[in-house]
Amino acid sequence: MKTKNLPLILAVAMIMWVGIVIILAIVSQKIIHRFGPLPEQPVEFSHTVHVNQLGLECLYCHSSAEKSIHATIPSSSLCLDCHEGVDMDIPEVKKMLAIIEEKGEIDWERVYEVKDHVYFSHRVHTVIAKIECQECHGPVEHMTVAIRASGGSSDRGFMEMGWCVTCHERRGAPRECITCHK
Ligand code: HEC
Ligand code: HEC
Ligand code: HEC
Ligand code: HEC
Ligand code: HEC
Repeated sequence: MKTKNLPLILAVAMIMWVGIVIILAIVSQKIIHRFGPLPEQPVEFSHTVHVNQLGLECLYCHSSAEKSIHATIPSSSLCLDCHEGVDMDIPEVKKMLAIIEEKGEIDWERVYEVKDHVYFSHRVHTVIAKIECQECHGPVEHMTVAIRASGGSSDRGFMEMGWCVTCHERRGAPRECITCHK
């Protein structure tokens, strides 16, 4: 009796297994789509190490975020303030120093970027609207590599219009087309 049912049980188990694999694949695709693919950076710069462990403020490196449109990525000279002449036995640090030695700067891949026809200003949001970096960029201080944590689902790290407009609606900020499309 038992052996007679075995092929059936195996078949059912097989179908369930395939089903689970397919569901997992779909879910992980959705997650990757939501957060964007991990950018391949030339050096694995760790926000966790520099913000959480060393206690550096975001503005220490992204000093323009309260002054101008762009937050900007720091230039290599700022990194050298601490890393030049200090012998750290960490492979990623050696890699970074070699790149700076060779090219002067590190070609960071952009994680967040809006298209050219969109006007966005950091200063307006950080100083005037007093919105925390994390509300738009997620818990960067816990990231080993900065990933896109918010702002739409297109593949290249663009922030989508619906994301901007939804918050503007919620906070009573302007929503005329000309606000963001100059
Ligand atoms: C020691 C310098 C340093 C500090 C401090 C720092 N960052 Fe960064 N940040 C970088 C570097 C270098 C990159 C480029 C590498 C990368 O994207 O991971 C970067 C990338 C980013 C990006 C992605 C930029 C893009 O679109 O490519 C965001 C967002 C960001 N940082 C936010 C923050 C926030 C928020 C804080 C504070 C919690 C912070 N950073 C603290 C150096 C720093
Ligand atoms: C205020 C000093 C300071 C500045 C500025 C600084 N670093 Fe560091 N960084 C450190 C220290 C200290 C460590 C070692 C932490 C440890 O021992 O784990 C470190 C570690 C690292 C590591 C290795 C992390 C790991 O565990 O893999 C990398 C890569 C790195 N830094 C890159 C950078 C880059 C790129 C910049 C410029 C954007 C920068 N650092 C700016 C102090 C600094
Ligand atoms: C209201 C949402 C919002 C807030 C708040 C915000 N950002 Fe951004 N951030 C963006 C958008 C949108 C972009 C893409 C801008 C572009 O392409 O010009 C961006 C891009 C960046 C970049 C990439 C380099 C650059 O200049 O565009 C860095 C670094 C960054 N932000 C850091 C920060 C830090 C640090 C804070 C807090 C002091 C912060 N951001 C606050 C939305 C925000
Ligand atoms: C988390 C909420 C939030 C998000 C997300 C957000 N904004 Fe805003 N934005 C605000 C608030 C609040 C103001 C109003 C600031 C003030 O003047 O008091 C504002 C103001 C602005 C202004 C200035 C408007 C003016 O004329 O005074 C521009 C331009 C703008 N946002 C563009 C954008 C774009 C583009 C995006 C998406 C890439 C975006 N914002 C995402 C909250 C947000
Ligand atoms: C709060 C900011 C904001 C406002 C207000 C806004 N937009 Fe946008 N819009 C964006 C952003 C950000 C994008 C870029 C989306 C992306 O890059 O995927 C965008 C994209 C678009 C696009 C698509 C273009 C493309 O490259 O795919 C059109 C069309 C557009 N907006 C028209 C409008 C019109 C019409 C209005 C007024 C009814 C308006 N927008 C109001 C932020 C805004």
